[in-house]
Amino acid sequence: MAKLGVGVVGVGTMGKQHAYNLRHLIPEAQLIAVADTDIERAKLVATELEIDHHYSSVEAMVERKDVQAIVVVTPAKFHGAAMKVCAHAGKDIFCEKPFTLTVEEADEVLDLTQNAGVRVQVGHVRRYDPPNVSAKRRIEAGEIGDPVIFKSLARDPAPPPVGYMASGVNGMFFQDSTVHEFDLGRWLMNDEISEIHAYGAVLVFPEIAQFNDIDTALLNMKFSRGALGAVENYMQSGYGYDVRTEVVGSKGTIITGYLQQTAEVVLTAAGAKTDVVDHFLVRFADGYLHQMRDFVQTILTDRSTKVDAFDGRQSVAVAAAAERSYREGRAVTVQNRSRTSRAS
Ligand SMILES: NC(=O)c1ccc[n+]([C@@H]2O[C@H](COP(=O)([O-])OP(=O)(O)OC[C@H]3O[C@@H](n4cnc5c(N)ncnc54)[C@H](O)[C@@H]3O)[C@@H](O)[C@H]2O)c1
Repeated sequence: MAKLGVGVVGVGTMGKQHAYNLRHLIPEAQLIAVADTDIERAKLVATELEIDHHYSSVEAMVERKDVQAIVVVTPAKFHGAAMKVCAHAGKDIFCEKPFTLTVEEADEVLDLTQNAGVRVQVGHVRRYDPPNVSAKRRIEAGEIGDPVIFKSLARDPAPPPVGYMASGVNGMFFQDSTVHEFDLGRWLMNDEISEIHAYGAVLVFPEIAQFNDIDTALLNMKFSRGALGAVENYMQSGYGYDVRTEVVGSKGTIITGYLQQTAEVVLTAAGAKTDVVDHFLVRFADGYLHQMRDFVQTILTDRSTKVDAFDGRQSVAVAAAAERSYREGRAVTVQNRSRTSRAS
């Protein structure tokens, strides 16, 4: 079977992991090249992964005919521009979350990629996390009846370095972090989030205030068919990477997520001790691999992607509504669009 030629643009923390998975763990893919504006980094990653080609831009990489699909893992500010380059070159796209930083750009890229006939998969990894995959299957099978409440929490162990915000190229808290919950809620509830009321605060990371961002958020939301949702997002658990979700239905509840990584408990006179998941690359290692393998197989077998540009766009719209709600101190209607509508 022919392999899918893939290039990865942006090989920082996340991009390097995707490149590694494509190179070593997904036999249906051939990692052809990596690109990064930091050319030394691109060269280093190419050397480490033992591939022959590295570039300083996506524009240079799309020139290669043997690269059929591009994995976009730049900071969020550049997702839209990179996807436009890929679409014009006829390359299928995997793009990390958030799809874009603004709803306007999300609409533009959604239309452009549809018109260009290229496929897009957005890196909403929660959909590939095995407990969530199982939960989705059970919900669809009717095991908990009609889903009526979506509850989710995500706590990072510690804030990112100040430079992450100072760079001005990454999304704000709702766009960068809470967006995972928005997509998960849409997917597990099989519905759109129609209204959101967000509270935000700077409580543990005062440095973030200068960037007009927050470190703590609680959000209540309504889904379009009437179900309700509540999300907590926090930057500084202090103990680990804690992501848990609950879907309450008319006939039962499903709880997903876990804090302990290893099935080991150490018991001494001092008490009981277990490990705690400490990083997203650990917690979602399976999810990252499964989503990239699914992307590769989807393109090779000419299917539609399971989490596409429309899904990416809708979650960007929820993040925008959350931001507005927090700033204006009121509930805000989400600017949803229908899957079939075309702006151009
Ligand atoms: N799904 C997840 O769980 C998850 C986790 C972490 C990051 N991410 C996403 O991955 C993306 C990258 O995040 P990261 O933490 O790896 O960031 P990072 O800063 O570690 O890496 C970004 C890389 O992109 C390069 N770059 C910057 N602008 C570029 C451009 N225009 N063209 C090519 N290369 C460029 C930088 O030099 C850097 O090497 C973001 O969209 C982020 O939201 C997703």
